[in-house]
Amino acid sequence: MSLKTSFLGLTLQSPVLIASGPASHDVNQVRVAEEQNAGAIVLKTACSDKFAHMRSWPRPRYKLLDWDKQIEGRSKMFSLYSYEQGYSGTLDDYWELISACKKHAALPVIGSIFADEAKDWIDMAKRVEQCGADAIELDISSPHRPGSLAFETTFVAAINGVVGAVRIPVLVKLGPGPEVLPQCLIAQENGASAVTLCNRLRGFDVDIESQRPILHGYFAGIGGPWAKYYTMRHVAEAANTITIPISATGGVLSGEDVIKYMLLGASTVQILSVIMVNGWESVKRINNEIEEYMQRKKINSLEEIRGKALSAMVSPDEIIRWSGESKRGSRNLWKEGTEN
Ligand SMILES: Cc1cc2nc3c(=O)[nH]c(=O)nc-3n(C[C@H](O)[C@H](O)[C@H](O)COP(=O)(O)O)c2cc1C
Repeated sequence: MSLKTSFLGLTLQSPVLIASGPASHDVNQVRVAEEQNAGAIVLKTACSDKFAHMRSWPRPRYKLLDWDKQIEGRSKMFSLYSYEQGYSGTLDDYWELISACKKHAALPVIGSIFADEAKDWIDMAKRVEQCGADAIELDISSPHRPGSLAFETTFVAAINGVVGAVRIPVLVKLGPGPEVLPQCLIAQENGASAVTLCNRLRGFDVDIESQRPILHGYFAGIGGPWAKYYTMRHVAEAANTITIPISATGGVLSGEDVIKYMLLGASTVQILSVIMVNGWESVKRINNEIEEYMQRKKINSLEEIRGKALSAMVSPDEIIRWSGESKRGSRNLWKEGTEN
């Protein structure tokens, strides 16, 4: 029995990857991720010079929301609200970071970039490859990206350009909507090696005492354990349609969550918030939980479960519906609900 996973020609120790963000910003974190038996690490996204302002962040930039809300005395729910844009160093720092990661750790390293003009995407992707990254992820879906950049124009050209310019695998990280499946298909048609589903949503929150928006006063990225439910839907839909691998990301707290994503067709699963909230040990715990499941279900390789739940999915016209008495029953329930 082994957690070893083959992904984009790489052999990973585990399907659990560290997602791009504050836990993948320096070489020491890459070493820790390796000690924790992560499968690979996606480095914090580097922005092109045109977006140099995105390299500095407001402080504080994170807020944990709803962590104290309880239903029936317990809760594993929270929302992580944050405004942290790109890698904080210069591009030269980023190239050095990739080289240092490759020098000091055996863990596969995935560079991550953001730009607008195709030329910048291509130049940056080439540097990521030259510095020794094992793959590259195109962050075209950040909740903080300028709203003027459209998928059909800017980002399709970026995917196409980068795929033509590098030999390492290219992952395209998509947002949670509205057109996830069509965008997966376009990424695939343009030569992407994999899609990463899904980036966080852009949200907003306001403090009722000060009557002002919280933190820096503008929209921010929002995610949490609840994000896995709509992401699982997108992963299942994509897995039923595209042929390139899927790396799922969003809301993972446990091995159970990783297994769910894999049963719906994901090849790897990227985690971040659970590390920010519970620490690096989360990676080992999640790996152990996956192993316990494999032992219990007598699974030798995770290949055996990839997409297994999809065959039991039905189409809307195949859904078994109740009629007659059950309909009356539900009408009564509805009536009771409205009267109370
Ligand atoms: C504070 C923070 C910073 C992030 N920065 C990046 C980033 O630079 N690039 C990127 O592609 N995704 C970024 N993400 C998204 C994560 O990589 C990940 O896809 C997302 O948080 C969902 O996973 P999670 O629910 O396990 O956190 C960031 C997320 C957080 C919370």
